[in-house]
Parts: sequence; structure tokens; C-alpha cells
Amino acid sequence: MRVGILTGGGDCPGLNAVIRAIVRKGELNFGDELVGFLDAWDGVRERRTMALDVRSLRGMLPRGGTLLGTRRGSPYDDPDGPEQVAQTFRDMEIDGLVVIGGNGSLTVACKLHHDLNLPIVGVPKTIDNDIVGTDMTFGFTTAVQIATDAIDRLHTTAESHDRVMIVEVMGRHSGWIATYAGIAGGATAIIIPEEPFDIDHICQLLHHRHERGRYASIVVVAEGAEPREDTMPTREKIYDRFGHVRLGGIADTIAHAIEARTGLETRVVLLGHVQRGGTPSAYDRVLSTRYGIAAIDAVHNGDWGKMAVLRGTDVTMIPLTETVGKTRYVDLHLYHDVAEIFFG
Ligand code: F6P
Repeated sequence: MRVGILTGGGDCPGLNAVIRAIVRKGELNFGDELVGFLDAWDGVRERRTMALDVRSLRGMLPRGGTLLGTRRGSPYDDPDGPEQVAQTFRDMEIDGLVVIGGNGSLTVACKLHHDLNLPIVGVPKTIDNDIVGTDMTFGFTTAVQIATDAIDRLHTTAESHDRVMIVEVMGRHSGWIATYAGIAGGATAIIIPEEPFDIDHICQLLHHRHERGRYASIVVVAEGAEPREDTMPTREKIYDRFGHVRLGGIADTIAHAIEARTGLETRVVLLGHVQRGGTPSAYDRVLSTRYGIAAIDAVHNGDWGKMAVLRGTDVTMIPLTETVGKTRYVDLHLYHDVAEIFFG
């Protein structure tokens, strides 16, 4: 078969490991020809490709980013886009396409499969871990480890200066990274988008803690967190060209409020794209590899319109329709009954 691969949306550690696994099993076990589309859907529409084989993937397992390049945006942004994608399938005789992407790319994959009957299989990717249907996306544990390492380092400098540190991590709609890194790093408080926060409550926690003679507080906040309505002013929202809110900066707002209300000296650390860069964790390398193998098996089973997911310890396939239009939020039992026990 001639099998295409693309990576879409924000990059994430483990993308190259998925590609490597697809190519390895595709070429050596099935005798496939593998074609990489460059820069996500743009490469499919414009037929910008690179040949992929076992040799060209050497050394890519531990490498972050994606050798194919990635973009945000959808062929549906342009009225001619979907037909251009279909034309590429016909002209290049593509028998199947593996789309490695987050909520946006998987939604496009599902729509193209159902609208135009294109043979597509999905693999869920995002450091945010917010895709419904899978217990974990690859890239997540790498981001959590990076954030945890940063928190560990911040503890000593925070203690030396008796300061509050606000650590802002990624997490647009869901606070998975904040919750895991906050638990792992021993945070004084964790603020997530799922639970609008009360700044007075956070200040009380900090006040009591410092009164008890503790010299350092680490507050972990997900970038998408919002205060309870009418409790404090927030910045005006800025949107990118795809209509997504450009997040980042809630930590500054929180830090100013804490200093003003408690008098505690407060500093802000924005981890930003550091969380998405560099080598994947061992766990993510294994998960990515398993997803890649499941995807190429699905191509040969004709499991079109499905995506690879982790359920418990098994990797299996589910229909893309089960994930489209949904967000996987933090398990509030984990947040309230585990993380919150350590607040203050
Ligand atoms: O891929 C998900 C994500 O990392 C979010 O956590 C974050 O809000 C967003 O991407 C950042 O996107 P960009 O790289 O376009 O700034």
C-alpha cells in the first residue's frame, strides 16, 4: 500500500517516534511505501512530500518536534481545501493516511473521512492530555516531568527568599499538566481551568502557611485558568488567526493580586514552550511506538475513521466520532480528593 503520514496542530515530544514505528512496521512487515506530507494539511493540498523509509528515520526515536513540520489550520478554512485533499489522494494513489494530531486535526480527519470517504486513521497527540477516548496522549508525561523538574528547582530559591512562586504551565481547557506536576512537585495550590479560582481563598492559604513559619510557596496555574466571576479583573483576551485565544499571563495577574492582598513577595515563572520541546520521556517513547504500530495495523485492517487509544494498559481503536467536539477534563476526584489534601 502507499500510506501517507501527517502531523498537525502544536508539536509534541514523541511525534517522530510514532512516525518511526509506522514506517518500520509498514516497510518491513507489510512492504508499504510511506509518504510524509510536510506541514500538516498544507502539504497534502500542495503535494509537498518526503519519502519515508527505515533508513531516513534512524536516530529519530529520542528526537522531539516533528521531522514533517506541523501547522495549525484546516482544509475547511478554504472552500477548495477538502477537494484539493481528495485530489491528492487520487493523483498520488494514497491508499491510506495516518493523521497524528490533537482535537483540531482529528476533527478534520473525521470530517474528511465522512464527507469524502477518505481512508484515514488517527493518532491522538497533545501535551495537554485533553483528548476524549484515550486514557493518555503521548507528550503528556514529558511535559509533566519538565514542569516537575522546574518546580523542584524553584523550591530552594523560594525558600531562600521567603517568596511565593507562581508557575504557569500549559493547559488550554484542562489542567492535567498543572494537576500532575503540582502533585509531583508538592505545590501549595493548583489552579486549573475546570474550577474557577477564588483569589481570596488562595491568599488565605498562603497567609496561613507563611504564618505557620513556612518559607516558600509554589502555586501551579494552568494557562487557561479563570477567576470566579467578578472576583478580580483579568486582561483583555487576544486571539490568534485561527480564532484561538492566545493564552499565557494569568500567572502575572494572580501574582499582582497576591502581593497586593498579602504583602508576600511573589515571582512568576512561565514555562511556555519549554514544556513541548526536547526529547520525549521513556514512557512517551513507548506509548508513541505502540500508537504507531496500532495505526499501521489499522490501515491494513481497513479500520478507516478510527483512532488509536490507550484503555488501561491496552492500545485499541475507537471511532473518531467518539472524540470529535469534546474535551477531556481533569478527573475532579483526583483534584479534590488527592491534590487538594496537600494545599496550604
Ligand atoms: O498543543 C497544545 C498547546 O501546547 C496548548 O497547551 C497551548 O495553549 C498551545 O498549544 C500553544 O500553542 P502555540 O504553539 O500555537 O502557541
